[in-house]
Amino acid sequence: MANNLLSGKKGVIFGALDEQSIAWKVAEKCVEEGAQIVLTNAPVALRFGKIQELAAKLNTEVIAADATSEEDLENLFTKSMELLGGKLDFALHSIGMSLNVRKNRGYTNLKYDWMQKTFDISAISFHKMMQTLLKLDAVNEWGSILALTYIASQRVFPDYNEMAESKALLESFARSFGYHFGVQKKVRVNTISQSPTWTTAGSGVKGFKEFFDYADKMSPLGNAPAESCADYCVAMFSDFTRMVTMQNLYHDGGFSNMGMNPAVLGL
Ligand SMILES: NC(=O)c1ccc[n+]([C@@H]2O[C@H](COP(=O)([O-])OP(=O)(O)OC[C@H]3O[C@@H](n4cnc5c(N)ncnc54)[C@H](O)[C@@H]3O)[C@@H](O)[C@H]2O)c1
Repeated sequence: MANNLLSGKKGVIFGALDEQSIAWKVAEKCVEEGAQIVLTNAPVALRFGKIQELAAKLNTEVIAADATSEEDLENLFTKSMELLGGKLDFALHSIGMSLNVRKNRGYTNLKYDWMQKTFDISAISFHKMMQTLLKLDAVNEWGSILALTYIASQRVFPDYNEMAESKALLESFARSFGYHFGVQKKVRVNTISQSPTWTTAGSGVKGFKEFFDYADKMSPLGNAPAESCADYCVAMFSDFTRMVTMQNLYHDGGFSNMGMNPAVLGL
């Protein structure tokens, strides 16, 4: 059901690791809708993930970049503009990783050097990405920048651990940088707050299955799948959302506005 919504647009997509990754589906939909894209991920993900498969399928290039490295980001955006033949119209930050979660450290027993690394990878990388794009003047007017987030930034989900603060920081960067990118370049910046989704990052959270099922029951429309998230990203990259900026946009089947759903209680 392609509608050429992104015809003539160029973009960079971070975070496609395997076919379950949300970024994987976004990349597929963007190309389906007529965009030209460059894929990127951390060097280690290029070795262990399947991103090259995706690139071959979509006839695109992969440029390695550790999103915490300003040097890598500068190289990535400079080369992307060369490959795509011009400035970018959109970028997706679909990156998340917690060292403390990975090493099973609970929220009241965190290692702070790991916490700082988590914030760097999962949130500060978004600021670095935008600052690099701005410095290089790499985004066309009316361009659109997105990052993916989760509602644990605003409500307590105990097992989400230090990723909650990462997401709060990420959403705040979208608002603050959205101001600067807006006044300087007419570029919009938003975050999409997505339902629990079965991916490598998602299923790393303790008790993910039970939690996924709970959210699915709580949401009037059920959990939003990755494919629908990709549709929403396409809409946000398209010209139909030019005046939407500095927002945290829920894409969660209604979960965020629920208090209680009788379905959760089996009624
Ligand atoms: N899966 C969920 O339940 C869910 C829900 C809401 C939001 N999100 C968010 O969606 C985004 C994408 O995650 P996903 O669920 O598709 O999982 P995923 O594991 O497929 O994607 C995470 C990506 O981050 C990349 N990454 C990690 N460190 C990096 C670094 N230093 N530099 C560059 N890339 C790096 C990984 O290689 C991977 O591709 C994340 O921000 C995640 O927090 C996920």
